[in-house]
Amino acid sequence: MNHENISRSISTVHPICLSHGRNAEVWDSDGKRYIDFVGGIGVLNLGHCHPRIVAAIQEQATRLTHYAFNAAPHAPYIEFMQRLAAFIPVSYPVSGMLTNSGAEAAENALKIVRGATGRSAVVAFDGGFHGRTLATLNLNGKVAPYKQKVGVLPGPVYHLPYPSADNGVSCDEALKAMQRLFSVEIDVEEVACFILEPVQGEGGFLALDASFARALRQFCDAHGILLIADEIQSGFGRTGQRFAFSRLGIEPDLILLGKSIGGGVPLGAVVGRQALLDVLPKGGLGGTYSGNPMACAAALATLEEMTDEHLQQWGELQERMIVERYQAWKERGLTAALGRLTGVGAMRGIELVNAQGEPAPEHLGSLLNSAREAGLLLMPSGKSRHIIRLLAPLTTEPEVFEEGLDILQECLARL
Ligand SMILES: Cc1ncc(COP(=O)(O)O)c(C=O)c1O
Repeated sequence: MNHENISRSISTVHPICLSHGRNAEVWDSDGKRYIDFVGGIGVLNLGHCHPRIVAAIQEQATRLTHYAFNAAPHAPYIEFMQRLAAFIPVSYPVSGMLTNSGAEAAENALKIVRGATGRSAVVAFDGGFHGRTLATLNLNGKVAPYKQKVGVLPGPVYHLPYPSADNGVSCDEALKAMQRLFSVEIDVEEVACFILEPVQGEGGFLALDASFARALRQFCDAHGILLIADEIQSGFGRTGQRFAFSRLGIEPDLILLGKSIGGGVPLGAVVGRQALLDVLPKGGLGGTYSGNPMACAAALATLEEMTDEHLQQWGELQERMIVERYQAWKERGLTAALGRLTGVGAMRGIELVNAQGEPAPEHLGSLLNSAREAGLLLMPSGKSRHIIRLLAPLTTEPEVFEEGLDILQECLARL
């Protein structure tokens, strides 16, 4: 296929052209079938073309395809926000606003915390990812390729090590780095917020240390700093619960949502404490397409499908299949390239290493190609691009998931 009219700065992992999909399977324009362990990078927790979501979009398309909520409210937005507020597992009354993407949600959250605190500094984490817009770029805890060649970025933003059993950074190390930050770099009184992913996505599916999260929550309360949880990739059942922050035993002040919120239709959201969402002047939040009626209809159908029972069943089943398979590979010594299994629930990463036990992106590069040729689509993650991230739809039929793991096993064995 001819890509001549498409910017070469957009990189694509797989040189194929997709035609259609159904749950966890996709077909390319030559009719070749693939098992999809990418899921649109975490968008398709309910799979491709979920019948309930398709029906909701079709129905809405015959009624009202678009209206800007800033011009006149419409029922899908209002109904969805009521449903979403009830879906967020926090003790306080929830309010929110809709966006077109995850990065736009992060941008709006930055505006809100500045408005609420009168401060502008942000503390983010090494390896974190929050988007590709100018302000979110600076939040990312990784330079290449995101921050290269774009000049000075909006700040001030500071980064701390991300403590996780998956990367060997301890809670103590992160707390010490925090002490240093506030004694050497910036006055704590100038910090508006901390922003973190409860499980890092792009960073390699690393689960945040729960004791650090609790210490951070206390620190924020003591210093009037707001805590933002970015659940754009970890949310909507990926870890077996509605959101990954529940596992940490904390309540964030703001939560960023995106990806699987819309069941495949572009949508994002900032939700959180009601008073915070009202802090900016009227007209300070919004956007032409944000909360488009068809996106809201799709998102409403998505939430209706995501009962707690479903999320738990799907998460547990997929987690069990991944963990059992990984343990069998380790026991058999399938390949010396097999490193750690990272993450929690169904949000799992498989690390690939070289003979010295160091990150081996070269292995992952060849694995992506051999798996695709054998009919499995995979996606890399991690600072060194050496961790396979498993993001198959949670609704993947067990036999299709096992078939995907069989392909992965064959390709790993050849490394
Ligand atoms: C944790 C996290 N935050 C934010 C984003 C940005 O979302 P979007 O690509 O919809 O702007 C992503 C995208 O991968 C993400 O994984």
